[in-house]
Amino acid sequence: MTSTSSCSQSLPPRTDTDAWWRDAVIYQIYPRSFADANGDGIGDIQGVREHVDHLVALGVDAVWLSPFYPSPQVDAGYDVSDYFNLAPEYGSLEDLDALVADLHKAGIRVVIDLVPNHSSDRHEWFRAALAAGPGSPERDRYIFRHSDDGAPNNWGSLFGGPAWQPVEPVTGCSEDRNWYYLHLFAAEQPDFNWSNEEVHEHFRAFLRFWVERGIDGFRVDVAHGLVKAEGLPDDDLGPDRWNVVGPRGEDGAAAREKLPDVGPAFNQPGVHDIYREWRRVLDEVGQDILMVAEAWVPTEAEAALYVRADEMSQAFNFPFLIAGWDAAELRRVIDVSLDEYGAVGAPATWVLSNHDVVRHASRLAYPADMDTDPGIGPRDPQPDAELGLARARAATLFMLGLPGSAYLYQGEELGLPEHTTMEDEARQDPLWERTNHLVPGRDGCRVPLPWRRDGASYGYSATGRTWLPQPEGWGEYSPQAQEGLAGSTLMLYRRAIALRRERRLGRGSVEWLAAEPGVLLLRNWETGVVLNTTEHPVRLEGLGAPLITSWHPADQDGADTGGAGDAADAVSTVVVPPNGACWLELAAGGLDGGDPR
Ligand code: GLC
Repeated sequence: MTSTSSCSQSLPPRTDTDAWWRDAVIYQIYPRSFADANGDGIGDIQGVREHVDHLVALGVDAVWLSPFYPSPQVDAGYDVSDYFNLAPEYGSLEDLDALVADLHKAGIRVVIDLVPNHSSDRHEWFRAALAAGPGSPERDRYIFRHSDDGAPNNWGSLFGGPAWQPVEPVTGCSEDRNWYYLHLFAAEQPDFNWSNEEVHEHFRAFLRFWVERGIDGFRVDVAHGLVKAEGLPDDDLGPDRWNVVGPRGEDGAAAREKLPDVGPAFNQPGVHDIYREWRRVLDEVGQDILMVAEAWVPTEAEAALYVRADEMSQAFNFPFLIAGWDAAELRRVIDVSLDEYGAVGAPATWVLSNHDVVRHASRLAYPADMDTDPGIGPRDPQPDAELGLARARAATLFMLGLPGSAYLYQGEELGLPEHTTMEDEARQDPLWERTNHLVPGRDGCRVPLPWRRDGASYGYSATGRTWLPQPEGWGEYSPQAQEGLAGSTLMLYRRAIALRRERRLGRGSVEWLAAEPGVLLLRNWETGVVLNTTEHPVRLEGLGAPLITSWHPADQDGADTGGAGDAADAVSTVVVPPNGACWLELAAGGLDGGDPR
């Protein structure tokens, strides 16, 4: 028995067994880069409103909006200075109400970002803390420490450099000499003190406020980081969260390795009390309100602890994202996830891209031993775009065939690659500066979307302004270029999402069927889901006819279903090309060799 399942025995029964999010396809909107209606080069809420039809046609169940709150934008909005409003460049509360109404009318739910680990240093509480001085109640809402011999401990910021900021240079007050405050991210993102009751009350008020405005769920940022180990002991992994591990790239650009989020700053048992508290609040003010954890914890078992019956609803499945193009690892992650989440009665989730990682249309083109995250720069080896896109389409189709809930990141439905040649001067991610340009950062996956084939900014902004540069040829990925085009990535996503719903795959299960190494073949209800990660075509005989393929049938004689209308259709042969995936209508009798779970 796993530790997860033994913990679950004392839990109350789940009341959310029919909740909408259990099989939902949830589409992440990064508002800054989605669409810019007012022409200032920054995406906005009105821009999202103008493309609700795109979301409806795609068929998603919900959208998750990355932060839109007032913010100095040191970390693209993950540095919040007011939790109860919108940044003027994104719109007003009324604009958001209008968007929520539009989406609800279209049957699409709305999830927003909740950033509880830290605020912006411009938040009124932090301003008050600096002004009030050492030992004040205002300072107790954050993590201030005194130390006479350098930083209070050896922790490093996840964005590079130390995690402690000396206070005296900020305030200019001599009484602040040898005082520091903690920031796991940028110095402009001071960490909250979750032992302080006012911090708890602030976030309970946050939840109530947004649910009353019609919000259907919350994505909890850095969910594994809020509570730190008692006494703030040193981190055994040392102060440098980004290790240089040697040269890569032809001109010797440095290769780096990100340390895992383990140690005294992460995944402390006390975080779970916070989510229990929030669950009680949400159950009071709403029904089936989604809470999804962004918890970069090492194992599926640890992630499953966040979704016990009295805590969150879902946790992002980062092991699935990291598994890459490795069939055995994907299968392991799927099995363990279904077991661990299943043991606590929660659905598994699946994700391949988001605003923090290299887009999977580029990431999957690299050899497994190349650590690309987060970001690829012009001096790094460049991906093979065609290979990356073929694998991305296959990986997504495979993912959408799995039971549970799936997350999509804006632009992946267009097959968008990472911008891998962005010039250094354009970069805005604090990682770039804070790692002394060792890590390119996440700007390459945050480039403004193309909506039209031509024109300045390809339809993103009426004035053609863009807060990050778009690469050449971006318009070929636009919905305008792909609309109605058989075999386009946009059409593939739409069809797959519609079929997924029709065939209730999100509510199904996984039964592995025998397949050669490098090939994954599973049954979910009457649907066969196949992924070929090998470099040769794989012939599947007598299993069933293809329902949808990640490859364009005209590009390849991959699908041979026998003569149309022929009774032999039921025992058709499918040839899955390398880097391909498909779904099959399983024929009875073709299922020998199964490995039931
Ligand atoms: C999360 C966000 C990331 C942000 C960080 C700090 O990991 O996804 O974008 O930089 O938290 O808030």
